[in-house]
Amino acid sequence: MISKKLPHIFYGGDYNPEQWSEEIWLDDMRLMQKAGVNLVSIGIFSWASLQPNEDTYNFEWLDKLMDLLAQNGIYADLATATAAQPAWLSQKYSDVLPVDIKGNRLSYGSRQSYCPNSISYRRLGQKLVRMLAERYKGHPALALWHVNNEYACHTPSCYCDNCAATFRKWLKKKYGSIENVNKAWGTNFWSQHYYDWDEILPPRATTAQNNPGQVLDYRRFMSDSILELYMGEKEILREVTPDIPITTNFMSDFKPLDYFKWAENIDVISWDSYPNPEPGYHPGWAALNHDIMRGLKNGKPFILMEQAPSQVNWRPVNTNKRPGVMRLWSYQAMAHGADAIMFFQWRQSLKGAEKFHSAMVTHTGNENSRVYREVEKLGNELKGLSEILDSTVPAKTAILFDYENWWAVEYTPGPSENLKYMEQIRNYYNALFDLNIPVDIVPVNGDLSKYSLVIAPLMYMVKPGVKENIESFVSKGGTFITTFFSGIVDENDGVFPGGYPGPLKDVLGIKVEEFDALEPHMNNKFKVTQYLGKASGEYNCNLWCDVVHTDTARILAVFTEDYYAGYPCITENSFGKGKAYYIATQPEQDFIKEFLKYICRIDNIVPPLDVPEGVEVMPRVKDGKEYLFILNHNNSEINIILPPGEYIDLVSNKIINNTLKLPPKEVMILNQK
Ligand code: GLA
Ligand code: GLA
Repeated sequence: MISKKLPHIFYGGDYNPEQWSEEIWLDDMRLMQKAGVNLVSIGIFSWASLQPNEDTYNFEWLDKLMDLLAQNGIYADLATATAAQPAWLSQKYSDVLPVDIKGNRLSYGSRQSYCPNSISYRRLGQKLVRMLAERYKGHPALALWHVNNEYACHTPSCYCDNCAATFRKWLKKKYGSIENVNKAWGTNFWSQHYYDWDEILPPRATTAQNNPGQVLDYRRFMSDSILELYMGEKEILREVTPDIPITTNFMSDFKPLDYFKWAENIDVISWDSYPNPEPGYHPGWAALNHDIMRGLKNGKPFILMEQAPSQVNWRPVNTNKRPGVMRLWSYQAMAHGADAIMFFQWRQSLKGAEKFHSAMVTHTGNENSRVYREVEKLGNELKGLSEILDSTVPAKTAILFDYENWWAVEYTPGPSENLKYMEQIRNYYNALFDLNIPVDIVPVNGDLSKYSLVIAPLMYMVKPGVKENIESFVSKGGTFITTFFSGIVDENDGVFPGGYPGPLKDVLGIKVEEFDALEPHMNNKFKVTQYLGKASGEYNCNLWCDVVHTDTARILAVFTEDYYAGYPCITENSFGKGKAYYIATQPEQDFIKEFLKYICRIDNIVPPLDVPEGVEVMPRVKDGKEYLFILNHNNSEINIILPPGEYIDLVSNKIINNTLKLPPKEVMILNQK
């Protein structure tokens, strides 16, 4: 349970009462209660309201608000207020504002414009955090700490002189000697050799490409610097309020921070989900991010900390969520492991950059809006679903995911700038999503023992221990699938000597002689030559083709065009009790889906229910009980035939026998009686 104070599904949103009069606060309490709100995130951008100058603090308004929340049975997800420092602080301390890659110091006047290594920012931020913690440690409304906000969102990296000096210290600690840095980065190239620590700089804007090893280490350093910044606040909170859980909200498809490393220091994962509700949106987009978040703490439930009640304001065009979509996507978050459903924000601002971002209470200022009515309906439904808390998603399939691989493969100049790690992950994730196969997202060195199938798309970097992890999984009977451009470099982005796929050669039983990057207008085809279920005949492929030779592997499909026509495109290698597959190109999606369907069938991985296309089914389990989420993403009603038995739908509290009808965008959570 996220907080023992509140054994229910958290429901609420970011609340910015400093934008409103106290009269409005009272109406907020009424409207929150009516909508079933039990938690609000407060103080996220309140530093300037809490501290008019270095010597003066003003907590009176927050005292009043915390008391008001407690009186109304609403809990606080209290922020440390450090996500945007006041203007006076940026003016007074010259080390605070961040410097971009070209050496320009950015101005204040927006938010999250601070250098993560700034001594002044850290010192003053931590002072404020200690005062907040001491002041509210015993307050009955305090349920959760919300440290800062979306770390690295607007400033993923700073390149100032202080960061340069701190980077050198970080390198000294990691490598011990400057010779080791030279070796790791391969600096006998373009005259990059370093003789003195002070010669080393952040990878600032220069004439051509920077050294990829240096860029990779700078990414690691920045993720670590920002983590250290978080830890500075977190440790104060832990010391003063050991029993209050701590979170910080993460983001979707977010590259700058190694969230696996961060997660070790966070009590409960939370994240902000902003899918674009445009026609053609694939619901696997948010589902993948939910699964990443659930995977960060090995399956533990997480908080959906923010979502838009309807439109956002920061896209070029901001489409509304159609009626029912916000509710459907909220249940989708729960289906993937969320135990809390929150929004940005409670009351729609009248001024400032976000005044046209939707909110739970819209510009009508009261309960008379479509959006509020939908918010109210959902909030009151969730009150009856507390038994789902702490249930987990039972997945037998895992996708390996690695931030350092992401950083390395997308920076390295060549072979194709069109190679995007998340896209390659999605090719396989979306196929499994469409097949309703639950997936865990697991770090490359994670425990694979509970999985039957592990997929590692585009595993360019193979870090120490990963070869052994995969080999042990396969030799014990697991099925492993990887793709082109895998097994190429070590943890320093250095190519493994002796050819591709480096340390994956044995498990895959192949050699890759060379690879060919295809222009967007180019493609190839491959022909399936062995029985792979319905994956038969000829398919299109594009982006990339490897020239493969088999050692011990069996050929399942061959390319049909160009100078590597007849060469292997898909191979299967028996290794111990298991099998390892290699896919040497980007196949069309239909193939991936049919191929995975075939693999899942032989691995005994079956979807929880047979349903029409566009219907998502996800199980959560607790104490031997299954909660089966059924989500109709379609715009039309569908029928489903259930296995014999009597079921109860926990959302409507109706008994369901045999056949169920699900209107468009509708949801059920079935429990077998
Ligand atoms: C130029 C440079 C070489 C090398 C090649 C690569 O010709 O002179 O050092 O970088 O490009 O194509
Ligand atoms: C982010 C931020 C919020 C708000 C929303 C708007 O998630 O955390 O403060 O700006 O975006 O979508």
